[in-house]
Amino acid sequence: MDINKDNKVGESKGALERQLYFIEKCREYIKNITEEIGRPLYACVQTFGCQMNARDSEKLLGILKEIGYQETDKEEEADFVLYNTCTVRENANLRVYGRLGQLRNVKKKNPYMLIAMCGCMMQEPDVVEKIRKSYKFVDVIFGTFNIFQLAELMYNRFTSGSQVIDIWDNTKEVVEELPTSRKYPFKSGVNIMYGCNNFCTYCIVPYVRGREKSREPKEIVREIEKLVSDGVKEVMLLGQNVNSYGKTLDYEFTFAQLLGEIAKIEGLERIRFMTPHPKDLSDELIYAIRDNSKVCNHIHLPLQSGSSRLLKLMNRNYTKEQYLSLVDKIRKEIPDISITTDIIVGFPGETEEDFQDTLDVVRTAKYDSAYTFIYSKRTGTPAAKMENQVPEDIVKDRFNRLLETVSQVSHSHIKRYEGKELDVLVEDVDDHDASYVTGRMTNNILVHFKADRSVIGKVVKVHLDECKGFYYMGTIV
Ligand code: SAH
Ligand code: SF4
Ligand code: F3S
Repeated sequence: MDINKDNKVGESKGALERQLYFIEKCREYIKNITEEIGRPLYACVQTFGCQMNARDSEKLLGILKEIGYQETDKEEEADFVLYNTCTVRENANLRVYGRLGQLRNVKKKNPYMLIAMCGCMMQEPDVVEKIRKSYKFVDVIFGTFNIFQLAELMYNRFTSGSQVIDIWDNTKEVVEELPTSRKYPFKSGVNIMYGCNNFCTYCIVPYVRGREKSREPKEIVREIEKLVSDGVKEVMLLGQNVNSYGKTLDYEFTFAQLLGEIAKIEGLERIRFMTPHPKDLSDELIYAIRDNSKVCNHIHLPLQSGSSRLLKLMNRNYTKEQYLSLVDKIRKEIPDISITTDIIVGFPGETEEDFQDTLDVVRTAKYDSAYTFIYSKRTGTPAAKMENQVPEDIVKDRFNRLLETVSQVSHSHIKRYEGKELDVLVEDVDDHDASYVTGRMTNNILVHFKADRSVIGKVVKVHLDECKGFYYMGTIV
């Protein structure tokens, strides 16, 4: 077989075989060390950022386990630490550097320890330069496009003994069939597309995740069928703008059609998706959510700002009025739906009036919850060059007022489910009290109720006794 190091472009099948070859090579290497030191080797994958990264981490951990590492969530005990990074806001980057600094000392004490970094931060040349220069103890560095190459890169590190850096600048090939290690046995993320073409002016994602590319519907369905036969009941379809799913395929195929195909899969109980863009959310999609009982009663519809003036500067391609009429239309068709959102405060030039528009949309749209972010300047994006960056104290003040409005609105709105009996997919033992479990309704709202862990992974009916703000306390019926 061809293991020529520079031959990156190739047929997916050849590429798969190539990676399986390197997995085998690494496995031999790890087996030898394990025998030599008389204990297993442990790997720890730390994930920053969004659901895309979480899914990528499952793939990375799958490869590491296949190679022979055992999983641990404690970095200081691990022989292989992998940071899967995010760069969407500055504080995500700072956290990584802080943690990396601490890891340097841990590594000094463990001669077998390797440190690797991947993910969105690694797609920024100045970040890689900084790590190459100031963090020489990092062993392997790769990006968002070649995560499937982990074994090959590790093998290069094992055999060369020096830092391995391999960053691609676009998707040349994707190998999907490698082993994955899911965090939850009963639910899974599924990539339906990669990249983003929207270029919202504040956002770095299109630069670090590349151009939009949809996966073939058949491949997606096949992956989900396999997951279902392995015990998965709920899938989360992942894409930066799922409405434009299908645009890069050679034939007409919409996201709503994809939902229809996936809903036919026997044994699959719930379908979620993230994220639709308000600019091109079709009626066809609204009807698909309404008419498919497996599609969850929840839509995450990022607002970003309620001011039409700012939305234009953000390149979001919708106005306050268009957004609100979309919310109206969705609620008219699916009255019981839960709508959640993302909001940024402090975008360059934001005035009090713009901010009041945002508060107004929050009150009118009646979100069940909202992720709120302080605008973070990302080098290389158009907004970073805009004048009128808003002073920090003003942004903080607006941020606090936004939080208050969001929690008032969502609390009183979420309460509408009180007294109902709804299906809950049980996810885990409650963090605070082991005699309780925690699960999610199809509207994505959390419910805590008394039950033993045997119900984890099952769908059960729960009476919603009391709304506690963002979550419910309930009783199993
Ligand atoms: N594709 C998704 C969002 C991906 S990023 C969408 O279009 O909705 C997740 C969220 O991070 C965004 O919705 C936005 O609210 C926030 N975000 C992105 N860039 C940001 C920045 N520079 N500063 C603050 N928040 C940002
Ligand atoms: Fe970023 Fe906009 Fe793409 Fe979402 S749609 S990832 S906010 S550029
Ligand atoms: Fe996600 Fe952060 Fe990358 S939000 S796509 S992990 S920059």
